[in-house]
Amino acid sequence: MANAPATDASSVDALDASDRRHSWHPFTQMREYLDHPRLHLVRGEGSWLIDGEGRRYLDGNASVWTNVHGHNDPDLNRALTAQLGKVAHVTLLGLNHPVATELAEDLAGLTGGALSRCFFTDNGSHAVEVALKLSFQHRQLTGQAAKRGVIAMEGGYHGDTFGTMSVGGRTEFHRRFEPWLFAAKTFPAPVHSECAGKVVRSDASASLAALESLLVRDGASTACVILEPLVQGAAGMVQQPPGFLRSVAELCRRHGVHLILDEVFTGFGRTGALTAAEREGVVPDFLCLAKGLAAGYLPLAATLTSEKIHGAFLGTFSDGRTFFHGHTFSGNPLACAVARESLRKLRPMLASGQVAERAALLGREMEDAFSGHPRVRTFRQLGLTGSVEFKPAAGGGWPTDARAGFQVALAARRHGLVIRPLGDSILFVPPIAIQADEVKHLVRAVRLAMDETLPSLEPD
Ligand SMILES: Cc1ncc(COP(=O)(O)O)c(C=O)c1O
Repeated sequence: MANAPATDASSVDALDASDRRHSWHPFTQMREYLDHPRLHLVRGEGSWLIDGEGRRYLDGNASVWTNVHGHNDPDLNRALTAQLGKVAHVTLLGLNHPVATELAEDLAGLTGGALSRCFFTDNGSHAVEVALKLSFQHRQLTGQAAKRGVIAMEGGYHGDTFGTMSVGGRTEFHRRFEPWLFAAKTFPAPVHSECAGKVVRSDASASLAALESLLVRDGASTACVILEPLVQGAAGMVQQPPGFLRSVAELCRRHGVHLILDEVFTGFGRTGALTAAEREGVVPDFLCLAKGLAAGYLPLAATLTSEKIHGAFLGTFSDGRTFFHGHTFSGNPLACAVARESLRKLRPMLASGQVAERAALLGREMEDAFSGHPRVRTFRQLGLTGSVEFKPAAGGGWPTDARAGFQVALAARRHGLVIRPLGDSILFVPPIAIQADEVKHLVRAVRLAMDETLPSLEPD
């Protein structure tokens, strides 16, 4: 493939200087960012991103877990420009535009119409924040004001707003804000690890028993249970056994507690189905969607719920039933138009078996690359998600500042891959439409990068 420079070298240098001077990157230690070579990505083509000098990198992070059909997809581009020719933004605050209605109807189809009401926002944190607030307000509106508590599964990541931090794991991401967070009760996640369909260990009994005893004790004061179904992404692609979600849903139903499924990460093909809920045959009370919803093109999020929940919010203005929540760009028409086209393309892609085939290939490639490797502590894969955790060959661990995952991710760039580390591990989250040769490139580049990098981090 020709590496045509996207911009000339002097303009890349100017861009880099300006970035160093003005930018503050999210989830990034800026000292580290400034001290290492920066990567300015100026174009995208399919699963690939291209830098200012024309170098190509496979997007092993699907642009933070959002990309479905690849970059610069002609169908999505067409849908976007067609909408752009009509109107770029119309607020949904008391007004409407047709594409929001059409998308809301499409999304009702994700649960066979069971969750027929769609509340749009513009990012995953807000999708979850809305589900929590709807659950809390619904309890108040239906004479159950005592049901105020939240039960969350340990290790969850639901976003960076105060509400979502409160129900997420108290990791280094959020511990600093602890004094401002509300309390949530927690139960342990199940134990499960698989790769290429081979289950290494699996036990949901302690997790389910802990949830059940919390519900028996505190169900009367609990509004909702929240979890990321099938795979907890930011925890490091921590997996759940088949059937676990159904058992959780049954416990919630039995104890009269809402179930919120945060499918911000798992939605839209990531686990091989449109949603993890569909894959597991579960209908929650609230389904939170973002990331892949608009295929990685534009910010869009949705919280789906039932007509029954929605009905409780109806009344005269003075009844105080109105849900006072909304964001300026909630349900933006450009994003909705892309989301509709993405769904139209995704359904047949999933039905064709292509995604399942690529997921199986990812598992097999990971097994070949990492099984028995002296510097691999663990690895796992489910759908198009995976993780590999490193360790020193001599055993033990590294001090935090060794930054093993970060070093491997930096080295992977030299092998044509951008990928995100998490602590001493690397997370595999490619675009859903990734091709077979690209899956092989993804795993090969990580293996090359770790073999180049990790020996030099070996403790003396
Ligand atoms: C499961 C889950 N929920 C919520 C969020 C927050 O989404 P956003 O970054 O769009 O606010 C994320 C982001 O990674 C996520 O993985």
